[in-house]
Amino acid sequence: MPSSSHQSGPIPCLTLYVLVALTFISSLDVVHCGSSKQKPNVVDAHLLTEKIHSNRTIKVCQDGKGEFTSIQAAIDSIPEGNKDWVTVHVRKGVYREKVTIPPKKPFIYIRGNGKGRTAIAWSQSSTNNTESATLKIQAPNVVVFGLSIKNEAPTGIPFSSQNQSVAVLAGADMIAFYHCAFFSTHNTLFDYKGRHYYDTCYIQGSIDFIFGRARSLYHMCEIFVIEDKKVEIHGSITAQSRESLKENSGFVFQYGRVYGMGHVYLGRAKGAFSRVVFANSYLSNTIVPEGWSLWRYDDGGTQDLFQAEYKCHGPGATTEKRANWSKQLTEKEVGAFLTIDYIDGKEWLPAWI
Ligand SMILES: *[C@@H]1O[C@H](CO)[C@@H](O)[C@H](O)[C@H]1NC(C)=O
Ligand SMILES: *[C@@H]1O[C@H](CO)[C@@H](O)[C@H](O)[C@H]1NC(C)=O
Ligand SMILES: *[C@@H]1O[C@H](CO)[C@@H](O)[C@H](O)[C@H]1NC(C)=O
Ligand SMILES: *[C@@H]1O[C@H](CO)[C@@H](O)[C@H](O)[C@H]1NC(C)=O
Repeated sequence: MPSSSHQSGPIPCLTLYVLVALTFISSLDVVHCGSSKQKPNVVDAHLLTEKIHSNRTIKVCQDGKGEFTSIQAAIDSIPEGNKDWVTVHVRKGVYREKVTIPPKKPFIYIRGNGKGRTAIAWSQSSTNNTESATLKIQAPNVVVFGLSIKNEAPTGIPFSSQNQSVAVLAGADMIAFYHCAFFSTHNTLFDYKGRHYYDTCYIQGSIDFIFGRARSLYHMCEIFVIEDKKVEIHGSITAQSRESLKENSGFVFQYGRVYGMGHVYLGRAKGAFSRVVFANSYLSNTIVPEGWSLWRYDDGGTQDLFQAEYKCHGPGATTEKRANWSKQLTEKEVGAFLTIDYIDGKEWLPAWI
């Protein structure tokens, strides 16, 4: 630092005040600007609405003050081949209907008024998981916010046609759920295919309640286990069906919580290449010590399975008795699964945390 400063003696008081004041104001400014540019802590309806840039809103309201009183009627009013985001704002209430977003109606943003306030409910069980689903999404580019989806079918006789009741079928590419809740028992969430994001969702079930072969990131989700006492086996949270080395599917759970009643496995292998990762998650003792199961995947080989954990904690995370083919990943091994790039999120998600 050259000593060429002509400043000598004390800085006059007024200058000092001005300097302090300026510093203070500019620091406020930095905080303010910074916070709007930083990654958000929570993705809320305002942020989604801002990012999605929808210029058409259809209001669904049970008191008749919207354009429709049924969600399906609102979906039906959107033309096939829709290219601009349409918001379907579903006001509070329980909507007793089945809802389908058909394959040719992409760019739909279903915005509920919060998962405790807006719900879709139906009651149906079937061996056909497409048939029973309360909400079926078959179009790409669909975002759902603040909504509960329930299949209220009583859990029927196990090993009968009444044993499966799907709440949601996510059956296309680029589907995201924020602050939603999925309620059922067997087969709650059919995470069928495509790239999906679940942010801060609540998922409840007893057996195979997150199943399919999608490539999905479950961020900060809460998984609530309810036991099915009529079944002797322990159920599993996940039943992932990846079938080959080339297939880029698999469920990744991070920063979530798993707890509830009774005991389940984290996953059962439903395909020879089944891939599921639980990372940085709390596991209560609802998780059995073996952790993972081969139930009904019985060609004998376990070498291609990827049933893995990384830095989980809680009483259900003890690894001593874990199935010997399951993996505790290293930081390097887990890396690619824990970023939004796992589902190419930067290319299609309106927002993520
Ligand atoms: C919505 O915005 C898109 C461009 O983002 C524009 O092409 C379309 O005409 C707009 N639709 C309406 C109904 O304003
Ligand atoms: C399952 O149900 C869906 C929807 O109702 C139907 O289109 C499909 O054909 C059914 N699949 C079978 C195998 O019955
Ligand atoms: C459900 O029922 C089908 C056929 O009825 C049976 O194959 C399947 O094993 C049953 N699943 C469970 C979990 O009970
Ligand atoms: C893994 O455990 C099974 C029993 O669950 C056993 O049959 C098998 O030999 C074990 N494999 C290895 C590599 O230890």
